[in-house]
Amino acid sequence: MTKTRIRLADHQDIEQLIELEEQSFAFDRISRRSWRALSESASAIVLVAEAGAMVVGSAVILMRKRSQIARLYSIAVKSGCQRSGIGHLLTNEVSRAATAHGCTEVRLESRIDNVRAHALFRALGYTPFGAPIPDYYADGASAIRFRKQLRPGISSRVVPEKADNSKIRSLDSNQAPPG
Ligand SMILES: CC(C)(COP(=O)(O)OP(=O)(O)OC[C@H]1O[C@@H](n2cnc3c(N)ncnc32)[C@H](O)[C@@H]1OP(=O)(O)O)[C@@H](O)C(=O)NCCC(=O)NCCS
Repeated sequence: MTKTRIRLADHQDIEQLIELEEQSFAFDRISRRSWRALSESASAIVLVAEAGAMVVGSAVILMRKRSQIARLYSIAVKSGCQRSGIGHLLTNEVSRAATAHGCTEVRLESRIDNVRAHALFRALGYTPFGAPIPDYYADGASAIRFRKQLRPGISSRVVPEKADNSKIRSLDSNQAPPG
């Protein structure tokens, strides 16, 4: 079986990221333009899971200047590659990458009916908090919020530690994530 590795995305991944997004989400997909902006933004980290030359998963983390809370904005694994631990790998690297950026917590929103994703997040220490957010997605579905406290000292394999968070520009992160 081909080994999966997690790395930072670059421009050459955009076509495969769009394809993965189309396959994974029916609404609120990240557009080509947004992928480009995210991969260039200092306030976003785009991770890809790669097996051979193929992108088999992705995760997008958003950060805000002067906030220690990172947001897991999107995570997806190619349908034929699910249930083989790639979601775990990506989600664990999200924690490491956010920690390397000085964050102490990761939060996310997920569709109320996305039980597969909820099982993954719970298994990795995320807990639901707050009331469901009604009418959060384009089709009117509600979102559940999850959060996880990060342990200081876990080092990222793909993201270098940032000494200076002031370089993080603000990015409009109010948009609903894909689900
Ligand atoms: C959610 C998602 C990223 C999980 O990725 P994955 O690579 O399948 O995850 P893993 O193989 O690491 O599985 C981790 C755990 O998630 C849960 N899980 C994953 N797929 C599941 C399924 N089909 N049914 C039930 N639980 C499932 C289980 O707890 C699983 O552990 P187990 O296989 O030991 O029981 C993937 O299903 C996906 O891309 N879904 C479509 C996009 C999406 O919904 N993203 C989340 C938005 S919030």
